[in-house]
Amino acid sequence: MRHLLLDEIASGSFGTVYRAFDFKHSRVFAIKVLHDEGGDDGLWANWQAAAYRGEGLILPSLNHQHIIRSFHSQGWGTPRVEIHMDLMDGTLRALAHSRPSATYPLLAHHALHQMLQALDYLDSLDLVHRDIKPDNIFYTYTHSTFHSQVQQQQLHPGGHYPYHFRLGDFGLCDHASRIPRTLGTKMFFAPELFPDDDDDDDDDRGGLPQLQSHKSDVWALYVTTLWTLDVGQVRAAAALGWRNGGAAGFAAYVGGLVEEEEEGGKGKVGALRGWRRLIRGRGGVRGEVLGGLFGGVGGLGGGEG
Ligand SMILES: Nc1ncnc2c1ncn2[C@@H]1O[C@H](COP(=O)(O)OP(=O)(O)O)[C@@H](O)[C@H]1O
Ligand SMILES: [Mg+2]
Repeated sequence: MRHLLLDEIASGSFGTVYRAFDFKHSRVFAIKVLHDEGGDDGLWANWQAAAYRGEGLILPSLNHQHIIRSFHSQGWGTPRVEIHMDLMDGTLRALAHSRPSATYPLLAHHALHQMLQALDYLDSLDLVHRDIKPDNIFYTYTHSTFHSQVQQQQLHPGGHYPYHFRLGDFGLCDHASRIPRTLGTKMFFAPELFPDDDDDDDDDRGGLPQLQSHKSDVWALYVTTLWTLDVGQVRAAAALGWRNGGAAGFAAYVGGLVEEEEEGGKGKVGALRGWRRLIRGRGGVRGEVLGGLFGGVGGLGGGEG
């Protein structure tokens, strides 16, 4: 495809994401470039092989309104891999930081509802994302052409919510049965992914953590929702490195917020009433949450999309 690289959107240890112009279709899109940093050849090869499954094979095969659309990738097996995607306006993390706190509940509600639909779809294909977090949830602003953001914020109460979310970053995504070990972002790890060092625990797992699953994706979305709502000043706790106790300590802290809700939903956590059953059982998104919290709307099994 003939295209021109425009500017850089983001850069990190993974590589760089650029805005690019597609001459054939006269449109702007995003290119994620993965580079070989040199050094240990084995490392790059292993890393690329894993990214290939998620971003080269699985992502382009997906078709869902709340999952980022990737239409092309190239360079697999070479030092420069490119993944071509629809351009998004930014991440849920950036959006949440840029909005006043009074808008957090509406933002969290819509992001949660839309991401549950994405997780429901992935579960129906037996896929586990493994890195659900505010940085990997993207949005587009749907009315920017005719209205300024300020005008739109005045317009949307009761009307159309202007942010459309899509799940992205499929670098770790794989089929549930093919996940050999836990990778991702520790802060969003479900409790069962940590080694069990509590001897008195009823649910004895013999000290061995479980592997990532649809259930741990649901947990990560739960933590993402707490983060978006900024329940219990969770954003500051996150930025401080989870207070004491590292990632496991943070998981326990989030567990405490869940307990608090079980005791009657005090304070802001009450905004998440209905999550209790989900977080306890984490049986499946469709029945437990889309059903209970959103009346089934958006699930694959019923309601409209
Ligand atoms: N399609 C896209 N549109 C706009 N920005 C993007 C897009 N894809 C990635 N980005 C930007 O690049 C960053 C890293 O992309 P991501 O796919 O999450 O890669 P990584 O595996 O390195 O986390 C994102 O946080 C976002 O800022
Ligand atoms: Mg990412």
